[in-house]
This record gives sequence, structure tokens and C-alpha cells, in this order.
Amino acid sequence: MIKKLLCPSVLSADFSRLTEEIKEVESAGADVIHCDIMDGHFVPNITFGPDMVSRINAVTELPLDVHLMIDSPDKYIGNFCDAGADYISVHYENNIHLNRLINYIKGFKVKAGVAINPSTPVCLLSDIILDTDFILIMSVNPGFGGQKYIPNSLEKVRELKKLINLKNPDCLIEIDGGISEDNIKTLAKNGVDMFVCGASIFKDGDKKKKTKKLKELIK
Ligand code: DX5
Ligand code: ZN
Repeated sequence: MIKKLLCPSVLSADFSRLTEEIKEVESAGADVIHCDIMDGHFVPNITFGPDMVSRINAVTELPLDVHLMIDSPDKYIGNFCDAGADYISVHYENNIHLNRLINYIKGFKVKAGVAINPSTPVCLLSDIILDTDFILIMSVNPGFGGQKYIPNSLEKVRELKKLINLKNPDCLIEIDGGISEDNIKTLAKNGVDMFVCGASIFKDGDKKKKTKKLKELIK
């Protein structure tokens, strides 16, 4: 059975003490660090670019999962790979030539994924899924941390799991947005492999304790 991966999203971390916060979740058992890249065009927010990813890579042993919420991602994929990305996802909604793009990413020997927004149906993935290492289901509208989980996401996970079993059993399912102690276990039972957690780890409270608890729930 594939190991379930807890992926803290640094979007909700305190950037003024990012190294310490990454080390805290790493020591508590986090598996992957999720980096949200936003350009103010595809989503209504701006975050950071390859230089920051490279700094993050320098302070952690964990693999980096780079979620590209940007237009024309092909221009920057080489930079993110050089910066230390191990997983890269691009969105279905703003990439017309997805087959080319996914195979371009795979050419850098990193895992390539397609992300879908809450309003994008799973059935649209039925061809590209043959080429993806993972699919990221957005369970909030992308752009901000700390939003409320959209309950229909569970149905999308179930539908995606069926498609994966049929067409590409090695493809992983990642979920991102509003993931917390309230919903993580059910999602794990229904086939999710990678769990992005921002606010539920970094906002207030003991980050180590929260990381351990979330890890326990996905076992
Ligand atoms: C939202 C980002 C998420 C965000 C999740 O657009 O893609 O990765 O950091 O944050 P939470 O877990 O707080 O919803
Ligand atoms: Zn994300």
C-alpha cells in the first residue's frame, strides 16, 4: 500500500520565522512541504517564486511539492526544478496543451500533476490521467489559506479513485483546501494519498502536536 503523505503548506506559516516552522513540522513527521505559487492573474493573490523555493529546499530534507497557480507555467518550470521541486502541479483551467506540459515537466524527472478547481469536473481528466503522477483536487477556490472546505470534494475524490483504478492505478490523489482534523480521516479512507494542510497546522497553537495528530488520522 502507498504511504499517505502529510504536506504542510507554508502559505499559512509565519514567513519571518519560516525555517523554524518548517523544522518544527519536519521533526513532527511531515512528509512533504507544499509551496503555493500565485501570480495575481490566475488567482487573486501573489506569493513567491523559485528563489524562495530554493531557500526552503536549503533548510529541509523533505521533498517539495510546488503548486503552480500561475499563467504560462511552462516559462518557469525549469526554474522551479532547479530550485528543488520534487512534485509540480499545473492547473487544468488555464493550460490548453496539458499533455505537452505534463510530459515537459516529467522530462525534468519530477512528479507531474494536474490540479482542478472546485467547479471543474473529474470526468475532464479521463485522457490526461494516463500521463499524470498525481491529481490535485482543490477543495476550496484557490488563492488563499484558511478557507472553508467544500463538502462536494469527497464525491470528486470517489469519482477520481474510480477513474484511477480504471486507467492509471499508480496515479496519486492530492487534496488541498480546508483540510483539518474534521475531514482528513474520511478523505484518507476514500483514497486520498496526499493531504495539504495550511491553516490547520500553522495557524495558532502547537504546530508539532497538530502535525502528529493529522499524521495519526491518515494512518
Ligand atoms: C490555496 C492553496 C492551498 C492553501 C491551503 O489556494 O492552494 O495550498 O495553502 O490552505 P488551507 O489548508 O488553510 O486551506
Ligand atoms: Zn496549494
